[in-house]
Amino acid sequence: MIYSGFATVCGVGYISAKRLEVVRLVVPLAGIPKKLDGLKIGVMADFHAGLFTRLEDIVYSVNLISREKPDLIVLLGDYVEGGVYRRPNPEKVEKEAYVFDALRNLKAPFGVYAVLGNHDHWTDADLVREKLSNLAIPLLDNQNTVLDNGLALAGVDDFWEGPSFPYKALRDVGRESVIILLSHNPDVNLQLKGDDRVRLVLSGHTHGGQIRLPLIDWAPWIPCSMKYRGSSGLIRETGRRWTFITKGVGTFLIPVRLNCPPDVGILRLRRI
Ligand SMILES: [Fe+2]
Repeated sequence: MIYSGFATVCGVGYISAKRLEVVRLVVPLAGIPKKLDGLKIGVMADFHAGLFTRLEDIVYSVNLISREKPDLIVLLGDYVEGGVYRRPNPEKVEKEAYVFDALRNLKAPFGVYAVLGNHDHWTDADLVREKLSNLAIPLLDNQNTVLDNGLALAGVDDFWEGPSFPYKALRDVGRESVIILLSHNPDVNLQLKGDDRVRLVLSGHTHGGQIRLPLIDWAPWIPCSMKYRGSSGLIRETGRRWTFITKGVGTFLIPVRLNCPPDVGILRLRRI
């Protein structure tokens, strides 16, 4: 009885882990220029290519977000599953390099940008950097780029394994720019105490908890600091700053999600 119940839960969780959703949200931002009103940003993270996230899963996620026709796409790390061993594993990156072949098909008028996650460091960060470079996807490693539309995209290396230097990433960005900060881990908000420049942080890493108990919607494990309260969706950090956390495309460690489907994000900036 217990075994059959456990098997049923695992089966439901396995099916749920393959049900990728599009999370569409509006981000109200006071005082942004008119030309940014309505800008659509596609957010993808946590592919974890490996035994449980295969080429067809990644291709499906790429097709799903492409159908939304985002103006800009951001990739927020954990391209290849690194397991829990945290040892250099370039062979794993080469073996699962189909993730990069699939990401090659992402196109957006204002471009595709990336940051690294902890699993990229747990496999081979330099090799992941090379793979992204081969796709001509700029990696924002504690640096920024200012787009033609006045949006400044800054990105940090991973909070756990980086280093993550948000103030270095923001260096030389003029106050007239609307700043979006890309960080695999939303704990970067802890580094932004007192900052009034970043308007939106885009993150993944949490997988939304991956396993959430029904009814009470509680996740036994969120891999973030106890000082940070968010696990997924749109979170108001301050009067000026929001964070969006995607639950990600793949799964970590086990091919199961409960009450926590995978997603890609489509955010629309709204001038208020
Ligand atoms: Fe992840």
